[in-house]
Amino acid sequence: MDRLVIRGGCRLAGEVRVSGAKNAALPAIASACLTRDPVTLRNMPSVKDVDSTILLMKHMGAKAARSRDGRTVTIDPSGLNRPDAPYDLVRKMRASSLVLGPLVARFGEADVSLPGGCAIGARPINLHLKALEAMGAEMAIEHGYVRARARRLRGARIVFDTVTVTGTENIMMAATLADGRTVIENAAREPEVCDVADLLRSMGARIDGDGTDVITVDGADVLHGTEHAIIPDRIEAGTFMTAAAITRGRVAVTNIVPAHVDAVAAKLLAAGADVKFGSNKAVVSMKRRPRGVDIMTQPFPGFPTDMQAQFMALMCTADGASVVRETIFENRFMHVQELQRMGADIQFDVNTAFVKGVKKLSGAQVMATDLRASASLILAGLAAEGETVVNRIYHLDRGYEHLENKLKALGADVKRVRR
Ligand code: EPZ
Repeated sequence: MDRLVIRGGCRLAGEVRVSGAKNAALPAIASACLTRDPVTLRNMPSVKDVDSTILLMKHMGAKAARSRDGRTVTIDPSGLNRPDAPYDLVRKMRASSLVLGPLVARFGEADVSLPGGCAIGARPINLHLKALEAMGAEMAIEHGYVRARARRLRGARIVFDTVTVTGTENIMMAATLADGRTVIENAAREPEVCDVADLLRSMGARIDGDGTDVITVDGADVLHGTEHAIIPDRIEAGTFMTAAAITRGRVAVTNIVPAHVDAVAAKLLAAGADVKFGSNKAVVSMKRRPRGVDIMTQPFPGFPTDMQAQFMALMCTADGASVVRETIFENRFMHVQELQRMGADIQFDVNTAFVKGVKKLSGAQVMATDLRASASLILAGLAAEGETVVNRIYHLDRGYEHLENKLKALGADVKRVRR
């Protein structure tokens, strides 16, 4: 298993271009199930989760290919004839459940493996299933699979008990081919949800209200193919902005949508970083130790849970204390024990961590446990004294495109060691 070897102490400097958003790319590929026509997606990231979703589309009978540079994915769903997502594909990438809504909407049936648990929490999809049932689908759970059947989904009023990003995306996609109007209340407002809505509208769907907590979809009989460029990855952007701060460097993070990183920028400013925005970039610099700043994760536009681990790494080096509250997932503190091995002073109970900044972290052997924890440990390694080895970085490769190359180009002393 690959690992990253990092020698800390280099101040990052230069410019880095953010790739397309993994969490927009996955539902975008799933949207191709809604039409017989080709769907071409641009600005796609070369990350493992996108590869897994392409594999799933091929398993179901669609054709899918990446351009030579990996940035364009073209899906030809005309041969899609097996509306099922098997366990061995779904267990590797839980977001495969995003094909459930589109498959039931287009084919009237879907057999999708339940995703099972994940490192950061139980992450059930009960709300997705309840919503499809409300739209007239017969849902059964047999042998670990969701078996959904519906002659034709019908529009319904859906009120999500909890804000769910992929739940909102799944139902929005399903509703585009349902008979009548669907209103989704307590909908997720994430930029990735809006990007999927833009893609669906370009396929002929009638959607309003995306970006607010009430989304209205008027079903159509057919959707046509399209070409769509997905939005930049706001979490990768936030990760590089935080990397600039933790190394006390100066980095221009380009190809971003400033409004998508507002919450992270606000916390970096509060910690004493300088953040200047251009039309599609953020220049972040930090001259001294960060101040301690409290954060609490929230659905968009609040502070993103996918940035919690990275920001905690920064707080571990702060001149002061901070409280980190994780309100979205029940087990998203697995990076804490690893940061403690690097000398971080963190106490935590269920979903609240109390961080007391230390002058210097010390490099150590650490273990990545999930995608964003991997990024957190890399940021800590960039600032630590000596050498840090981050093991099991297959987690990282699921959601960051060539992260070590981008860091190296900014002056980091980091190399990938293939075991
Ligand atoms: C999406 O996951 C993202 N993944 C996650 O990014 C992100 O952390 C999360 O949204 C929150 O922003 C993709 O978009 C592919 P949720 P999702 O449904 O949709 C509970 C990353 O690092 N819930 O918004 O699976 C759930 O357990 C990943 O890129 C139910 O109880 O998250 C959680 O506590 C990690 N029942 C909360 O809601 C349901 O049916 C929010 O989850 C659905 C969700």
